[in-house]
This record gives sequence, C-alpha cells and structure tokens, in this order.
Amino acid sequence: SSTEEPELRSPILCILGHVDTGKTSLLDKIRSTNVQGGEARGITQQIGASFIPVENIRDQAKDLAERLKFEFKLPGLLLIDTPGHESFNNLRSRGSGLCDLAILVIDIMHGLEAQTIESINLLRMRKTPFIVALNKVDRIYEWRPCRNVDIRESLKVQSRHAAQEFDSRVKDTVAQLAVQELNASLYWKNPDHRKYVSLVPTSAVTGEGIPDLMVLATQLMQKIMAEKVTYRDELQCTILEVKTIEGLGATVDAVLVNGVLSEGDKIVVSGFGAPIVSTIRSLLTPPPLRETRVKTQLIPNKSVKASMGVKIVAPGLEKAVPGTSLLVCTEDDDLEDLKAQAQSE
Ligand code: GTP
Ligand code: MG
Ligand code: NA
Repeated sequence: SSTEEPELRSPILCILGHVDTGKTSLLDKIRSTNVQGGEARGITQQIGASFIPVENIRDQAKDLAERLKFEFKLPGLLLIDTPGHESFNNLRSRGSGLCDLAILVIDIMHGLEAQTIESINLLRMRKTPFIVALNKVDRIYEWRPCRNVDIRESLKVQSRHAAQEFDSRVKDTVAQLAVQELNASLYWKNPDHRKYVSLVPTSAVTGEGIPDLMVLATQLMQKIMAEKVTYRDELQCTILEVKTIEGLGATVDAVLVNGVLSEGDKIVVSGFGAPIVSTIRSLLTPPPLRETRVKTQLIPNKSVKASMGVKIVAPGLEKAVPGTSLLVCTEDDDLEDLKAQAQSE
C-alpha cells in the first residue's frame, strides 16, 4: 500500500585516505577480521567490498544507540576499502564515484597529508558527502584506552594532559581543513551537517569511536539521504576490478548498487576494443563480514539483490573496462543499443 515505508538498501560507504592512516584496520575492527595483517607490507592494493549486517552494527553500537534513542532501519552497510598509496588514484576515484557516503580517514598524529587532500578533491568533484574518521587517538601521549566505547565516554576518563593534546590536535586538523576551504567540527558539536564536515575520533586498535562512526554514518543516510538509499529495481552495477582466477576463468568484482542479478543473465559490458556480450556463469558473494578480496569461502548464489559486493564469473570478461557499468539484456532490450551504450562509457 502507499502508506508502506519505502524499502531501503544498504548504503555504500567508501573508505578513503592517505596511506597507513588505518583504513583497513578500521574495517578489520568493525568486522573482527585481520585483512591488514595479510597484506604485503601492509599496503592495500585493491578495492574490497564487505557487507556489515545491521544486527552486527546494532550490537557494536548498542550503548550509544540506546543513549541517543537511535533506531537502525537500514539492512546494513556495504563498506568499500581503497588503497592510500599514491599510485592508486584510479581506485580511489572509482570508489569515491560510486559510494553514497565516504569516510575520509585522517591520522590524528599527522593531520592532512598528500592523499588526504587528493581524496578531498575527488569527493568534491563528485559531490560525494563525507565524514572524517580522526584515527589513532590511542597514540596520544598518556591516552587511557577504553575498549570499544563511544568516544565521549572515553574522553571523560582521559587525564588533563591527554585531553589537552586531543583538543589541540583536533584544532590543528580543523585549521588544516579550513585551508582546504572546508568547515569541520567534532560530530557532536556539528551545528549543520550540510555545512560542516563531521569529525569522529577513532582508534582501530582499541575500538574507541567505532560505535560513533557507525551510528553517525547510519544516521546521516537515514535522515538526510534516505531517498538516495531507497531500493530501486532498475539495475545499477559498477565493475571495480577484473581478475582471471584459476579454476574460475575471467571474473569481475562489482558493486551491485540497485536491482537484481541472476545466474544465466545475458550481460553487456564495455570492453577494451569492443563491447562484451556474455552470460553470467556464477555469482559469488563473500559471507557477511568478509569481503570480495578474500579468495576463500565465496558463496554461489542463484541471484543477488542490491546493494552487495559480488564476484561475477562469465566468459570474455578479461577484457572488461574497470569503472564502467554492467548492463543486463532482457527480452525487451535491443542488444545493439546496449552494446552502444556500454561502449559509450
Ligand atoms: P593503505 O591501505 O596501505 O593505504 O593503509 P591503511 O590506511 O589501510 O592503514 P592500515 O590499516 O594498513 O594501518 C597502517 C598501520 O597503522 C598498521 O601498522 C596499523 O596497525 C596501524 N594502525 C591503524 N589504525 C591504528 C590506530 O587506530 N591506532 C594505532 N596505534 N595504530 C593503528
Ligand atoms: Mg589498507
Ligand atoms: Na597500510
């Protein structure tokens, strides 16, 4: 009926920032995994998508949500990790272009760095709303770690010294953001989310501030951007990466933003040289709290509904162009039209 609330999909959150600010570590903390520890020299080289179910978020942010009387209505969050190393500008660009909201991670001990500024410019160019995780608060001198609590609870127990250093580092970051012509404020003091960027102090080591990050991201999506995350049937699917995998053949890692993909779907994809027409052999998803990057444990699906990170297996995909849309050709579509559309991207 018309009085029913619209169906919401999980918002797509992209994690961006300078190298080693703690993007993957924050994700690991949220998922209770250790992807960062398995990376070569600890450097992220790919984009990874992971789905965090709402039950998990509710659980981690229970105390804060209760205090704020905040209710989670979204099915979950789809988090996309990106590399901070300077050579991966294309991956940051792809991630920031596709997400509903970005989390820009800044190391509180370093302030703004080269790829922080590059990320800010990407987000601005694409008009992507974002919040800042001011990470590594636990490195402040004499910081008393309070595991997994919300940041204001933790600030209450800090020594005068630690609290002063915290204040002065927040002030420095606010001043550096002002140089980039951005107004910023600690999120609980933010007078207007449309005019000020919210800062969420966090630690990926102690978990402090992680409840805040999840509540704030969800709150912004539910309150201000609900329309953006209203589920739509019309297919919207972006290819992030192309990989040939032994035993599977040509695959792409994609983010399904809206709509449904099914095994056997006839697909049209932009290809180097010519458009690719193929049929989906299998649709693989990581179990909740895992990500598409991790090779093991992928689950085959008959169909997948947005939003979700998905590995698509189909012959011919090795020539697909990352960053472009995947189209499905139904009985009503004209294949030549779709090929032209795919190739025009
Ligand atoms: P790239 O993907 O390579 O850009 O790095 P990243 O932003 O994902 O950072 P990563 O998670 O690899 O962390 C870099 C280093 O910082 C690792 O040694 C982490 O253990 C450490 N680190 C991350 N977050 C925190 C934090 O909150 N506190 C402390 N003390 N160390 C952290
Ligand atoms: Mg990383
Ligand atoms: Na790193």
